[in-house]
Amino acid sequence: MKRIGQSYDGRSIFQNISFDIQKEDRIAIVGPNGSGKSTLIKVLTGQEAPESGEVTWERGVGYAYFNQMWDELDHKDTVSHAVNVYGLGLDAPRKKVNKFLAMLQFSEMDLSKTIGSLSGGQQARVALAKCLLSGAAVIILDEPTNHLDLTSIQVMEQALIHFPGAVVTVSHDRFFIDKIATKMLTFDPELGITEQNV
Ligand SMILES: Nc1ncnc2c1ncn2[C@@H]1O[C@H](COP(=O)(O)OP(=O)(O)OP(=O)(O)O)[C@@H](O)[C@H]1O
Ligand SMILES: [Mg+2]
Repeated sequence: MKRIGQSYDGRSIFQNISFDIQKEDRIAIVGPNGSGKSTLIKVLTGQEAPESGEVTWERGVGYAYFNQMWDELDHKDTVSHAVNVYGLGLDAPRKKVNKFLAMLQFSEMDLSKTIGSLSGGQQARVALAKCLLSGAAVIILDEPTNHLDLTSIQVMEQALIHFPGAVVTVSHDRFFIDKIATKMLTFDPELGITEQNV
């Protein structure tokens, strides 16, 4: 992202934000409510055009957007089917995909349940599974641990720590950030945006 600025109705949300995403980065975007974190994610994922600056994705580099993946889950589909017919899951033997789902704490019985009948934490883990199998080099998440049970948070932490690409996540969850982040991008009303390694 190069010198990105965004404003709504003439009100500047942020200006002049630049940062790179490199392989294996785990970037946490932090800052107070309303400071513009979700807006930055919308610009990063192309849901919104920035007022100034540019977002450039290197050729062949794709991203998976966890929140959108969750929103777009087919509630009538089963856990096993949804994951087996998606991305890298398509070519992998069913047994292997189901083993991967077991790692994400799905029981044998969960696999045949419809996604609509799952808890929020279980749905989040299906969305995460699809992000991991999407072939994307970057996984982008906006407050993924909100309302999640401890098991789902721990599963998510481990999966993101071991993901071979890069992770960009907005979060207010101190423990989650401490576990996964290697870089912080802090929105501060006084100081503007600062980047630091952690
Ligand atoms: N489409 C829009 N039109 C007008 N104003 C908007 C729009 N989207 C966001 N805003 C405003 O932009 C500011 C930043 O919002 P944003 O959702 O990015 O904050 P945030 O840092 O993600 O906050 P939170 O931590 O509460 O999720 C807020 O003042 C919000 O009201
Ligand atoms: Mg937000």
